[in-house]
Amino acid sequence: MQAEHNVSLKRFNTFGLAVSASLFVEVNNEAELLEVLVYSKRKEKLLVLGGGSNMLFTNDYDGLVIKNNLQGINAVKETDDCVFVKAGGGVTWHQLVLWSVAQNLGGIENLSLIPGSVGAAPIQNIGAYGVEIKDTFYELEAIHIASGTKRIFNLEECKFGYRNSIFKNEEKGNYIITAVTFQLKKNPAFNTSYGAIEQELKKMNVTDVTVKAISDAVISIRKSKLPDPNVLGNAGSFFKNPEISHEEFESLQKRFPTIVHYPAPGGKIKLAAGWLIEQCGWKGKRVGNTGSHKDQALVLVNYGNASGNEIYQLALDISASVKEKFDVTISPEVNIIS
Ligand code: EPU
Repeated sequence: MQAEHNVSLKRFNTFGLAVSASLFVEVNNEAELLEVLVYSKRKEKLLVLGGGSNMLFTNDYDGLVIKNNLQGINAVKETDDCVFVKAGGGVTWHQLVLWSVAQNLGGIENLSLIPGSVGAAPIQNIGAYGVEIKDTFYELEAIHIASGTKRIFNLEECKFGYRNSIFKNEEKGNYIITAVTFQLKKNPAFNTSYGAIEQELKKMNVTDVTVKAISDAVISIRKSKLPDPNVLGNAGSFFKNPEISHEEFESLQKRFPTIVHYPAPGGKIKLAAGWLIEQCGWKGKRVGNTGSHKDQALVLVNYGNASGNEIYQLALDISASVKEKFDVTISPEVNIIS
């Protein structure tokens, strides 16, 4: 393990931004991580990087970037119905999904092909096609940055919500997630409620629904809708879908009868931010080196040489026009790092 100065982060962020870190170190096990944390006490700024798939760097990073590279996928416990699978924080998320598909274990197949790492997944409770990681989450291990001590967080303690957890609130920046354990099912009840999955399974002539069939369907849907970060820099959905009160929704629906909406917890209504952005005329629009994607307005892309600030400015302009037209505030899902 060796810390390096002025390291390019271009291949460590899926926007493909050409920023650098003044100090960078990759840790492969807990002992290395603890060593780095002792050293980092002398540093002002510290950033933990997983897959870099949910980050927008608006500047070079003047501080220590720790790349979590803790590997390993292991079945740690088994019951009649379930297998408990523990994965290192640095494991690529999709690698874990493929592993569970190969073992025919159900629960995370709807989350196929989501970019990022296992350690980053609980922070924003990643979700897609009717499933979130909280649905199969068992517990996680994390190292407290200030003290170097290990703590286990169970499901309740993580306080998961829509793209939210304790690690985005009270404990923001306080822990490094070193391993996550999932409770996967031997005979899962599949979640095909999301219309696009049903349609894709039909298209694939699937009669016998399996973990693998769902994973294949989700991979196919994502490939058709979402740009591949290896080809076109992006961080998936840039904004969260906003939640508004029932009263606010009723008055909006009178003015915009086709507004796309879903019921949300607590009697609230969730709006499709992609629809709001498209209605403001941004879908497929290019502004300099950045723009809103042609197939999914919620995804902002880097056409090659965008700076983080250029993308951030586009995001501000998009939110301002959504606010003006609908009087709805949309907030970034992506972490803005300055
Ligand atoms: N829509 C539009 N125009 C657009 C995009 C969407 O009108 O340009 C409308 C359509 O009516 C569509 C609806 O919005 O039916 C919902 O679109 P979609 O199914 O693509 O889902 P989303 O709400 O835009 C969310 C997640 C995605 C996840 C998909 C599928 C958020 C912020 N995003 O997107 O997650 O893959 O559902 O479950 O919740 C991510 O977090 O990075 C991500 C890609």
